Amino acid sequence: MAQHSILVTGGAGYIGSHVVQQLREKHRNVVVLDNLTTGFQQATLGAELIIGDTGDKILVSQILKDHDIGAVLHFAAHTIVPESVTDPLKYYGNNTCSTRNLLECCAAHGVKHVIFSSTAAVYGIPAEGLAREDSPLSPINPYGTSKLMSEWMLRDLSAASDLTHVVLRYFNVAGCDPQGRIGQSTRKATLLTKVACEAAVGTRDQVAIFGTDYPTPDGTGVRDYIHVEDLANAHLMALDYLEQGGESNTFNCGYGHGYSVREVLDMVGKVNGEALNIKVLPRRAGDPPSLIADASRIREILGWQPAFDDLEQIVQSALNWERKLKTHDFRNH
Ligand code: UD1
Repeated sequence: MAQHSILVTGGAGYIGSHVVQQLREKHRNVVVLDNLTTGFQQATLGAELIIGDTGDKILVSQILKDHDIGAVLHFAAHTIVPESVTDPLKYYGNNTCSTRNLLECCAAHGVKHVIFSSTAAVYGIPAEGLAREDSPLSPINPYGTSKLMSEWMLRDLSAASDLTHVVLRYFNVAGCDPQGRIGQSTRKATLLTKVACEAAVGTRDQVAIFGTDYPTPDGTGVRDYIHVEDLANAHLMALDYLEQGGESNTFNCGYGHGYSVREVLDMVGKVNGEALNIKVLPRRAGDPPSLIADASRIREILGWQPAFDDLEQIVQSALNWERKLKTHDFRNH
């Protein structure tokens, strides 16, 4: 039987574009829906791109119908934690309300499977900084809450219909396509690895450490950094799982160990061959001290095995991409 097509919302963005690339390498038929506010057409590497909003019911319904969509991978969202603190309604609008619209269209058009990009931010400050899928859900910023509300809508829709879903809770995504075709291209980036690589190649003067008084070994925040290629692969495995009849489930996506801000900055300096220009600032609003995945469930149920669990490789790929952006900035065209 011919395979249905896959709709990837936010497929021109950082993580979505890496997933689109891997799906196409597996010869899956992909349609990307992206409004290009933070994504880039070039990142889709020639996949079919429809420019528009996930919250546009008429457009989404048309796409689901015209392209015989069997599964939706939903990445489109705002993702910047501090911005969500200052502008919460932007996050509830674009993340929660748009997801509701998308799910309503999925239900109306008989979409079978949804894979949802969620976040470790749904855990808030987990005990000892370690989060299991069944740890208490207690986000400490509107970004995390906006994603948790979407998780709940998906849970309830699956209970009320034949739709099955996988929620993937991302920890700190970093690194780029090892072949250097796509990468993190966000303007005004806030992600630590991205900002540090920009400082390393000279597209910004320095990098700040937000807080050195956390209850962590060196006083700086600790995160579980996962290579975007491993994360993208988790989506493909989740899709296979659902297509083979797997039940709805939620999986943490991380490696199960973390690095501090200082360790990440040291690695960027080491790989670049020159120490970074660092300034110390106070803590940033909405940041938990430590956030590490218990990632056993995804290994057990999906059989997922990371291939890039190595900070040096992550940083090397991110630096290569940053150097490429510096010399050939496609975002200027
Ligand atoms: C990231 C994700 C968020 C996800 C979370 C899961 C993005 C934009 N954010 O947020 O969606 O829910 O991981 O853990 O994708 N830091 C500095 N200096 C900087 C930037 C960051 O010291 O210039 C520190 C932060 O205080 C934090 C750590 O580095 O301790 C990571 O921050 P960041 O890269 O911004 O990611 P998160 O806020 O953890």
